[in-house]
Amino acid sequence: MKFRAVKGMNDILPDEARRFQRVERIFRQTVESYGFEELRTPIVEDLALFQKSTGETSEVVQKQMFLLNREREILALRPEGTPSSARVYIGEKMHARQPVTKWYYVGPMFRAERPQRGRYRQFHQAGCELYGDEGPVSDAEMIDMLHLTTKRLGLANVKVLINSLGNKEARLDYRQKLQDYFTPLSEQLSEHAQERLTDNPLRILDSKDPRDQAAAHNAPLLLDSLTDEDREHFEGLKSALDRLGTPYEVAPRLVRGLDYYSRTCFEIVAESGEIGSQSAIVGGGRYDAMLEGLGGPPTPAIGFAMGLERILLAASAADEERSPLCFVAPMGEEAKLECLVLSQQLRMAGFRVELDGRGGSLKSMLRRANSMGARACIVMGKDEVTNGQAQLKDLSEHKQETLPLSEVVKATSNMLSTPTSTTGAH
Ligand code: HAM
Repeated sequence: MKFRAVKGMNDILPDEARRFQRVERIFRQTVESYGFEELRTPIVEDLALFQKSTGETSEVVQKQMFLLNREREILALRPEGTPSSARVYIGEKMHARQPVTKWYYVGPMFRAERPQRGRYRQFHQAGCELYGDEGPVSDAEMIDMLHLTTKRLGLANVKVLINSLGNKEARLDYRQKLQDYFTPLSEQLSEHAQERLTDNPLRILDSKDPRDQAAAHNAPLLLDSLTDEDREHFEGLKSALDRLGTPYEVAPRLVRGLDYYSRTCFEIVAESGEIGSQSAIVGGGRYDAMLEGLGGPPTPAIGFAMGLERILLAASAADEERSPLCFVAPMGEEAKLECLVLSQQLRMAGFRVELDGRGGSLKSMLRRANSMGARACIVMGKDEVTNGQAQLKDLSEHKQETLPLSEVVKATSNMLSTPTSTTGAH
């Protein structure tokens, strides 16, 4: 029997993991500079938490939960991070501690979807949640932070789409309008959209099925159902983004797949790289009613999550710049301890060091050093140990010198800061 990873759940091998690390690092640096602090929560929660927040009519809760049935409890692998963050906010009485709370998280999420490129059953999100500020300026600041993040990640051809979903009343009113509009057309809709017609007609608007898209062509717009206050909020967001010079497009048909959104919602879509049709790399918005619905104090809230796999599909395959590699090659048992100490010193000086502990021939160690992309290679044999020396080889320039041990770190550093005479060398 051959074991494989579970369908839709991927192993991330070291080259790919390095690309994840780069995205995570840029994300963390950027959001921390906006005052967000990391929150880590368990990947398992009570199913009821997601039913109450992500929402009973969302596809995620209806069809995509991974459940763990214990004796008296039903637990679920988290499909998203927002409910856990809200649970902690309420449980820790954050509203009484500070007026504004800003958290971020990075980690795996689970949705039992049909896997395809950019859509997996285990995927990773990096997200932010902000509590306690209802003004549109904080929405604009968050969207601008995301725009900056995509720039720092080197993503080209991204579009920021914004819309307003209004408050609950406006949405109920709109829902009715949509039902009235779609019901006479129901024969033309996909089977999936026909099911949505009663429980969540908003979802028909972002269906990818051409039949639904055609039927939705003249559907009423949510923006026309907004109350004056919601409209003012949305205008406030747009003028703040204009002031910041953040590019955006109003997308009147943008509705989000989770039930809890109100007012501002947004997505960032990418049209580059290998991302294909799963082009939403970021999704988010306001969820001003969720915390109260979960038994907490009324608290305005806004957040987003970006899908790391999708970011990587949209990004060029450019590899992470790494600090240069020094290869340390002990020849024989006597040299191993000295080489261990030297490796420690080189690492403390900031280099990445590969100590070849196998004790093979010099030729095989040099072959390995070259294949790992090392320019500096330090060799010590019995004679060098006796004399307190080491050989420093420049594998790109094919030069070498013998040095006292105390000078090796400095000489390595000099070598690696001098460009090679041939281009393309490490
Ligand atoms: P979401 O739109 O469901 O929102 O997911 C956010 C992002 O996660 C998507 O734009 C996508 O990049 C990625 N994503 C979602 N599902 C998958 C999947 N099956 N495979 C790969 N990537 C996926 C949320 O999750 C909300 N919690 C965002 C939020 C935070 N709203 C307020 N605060």
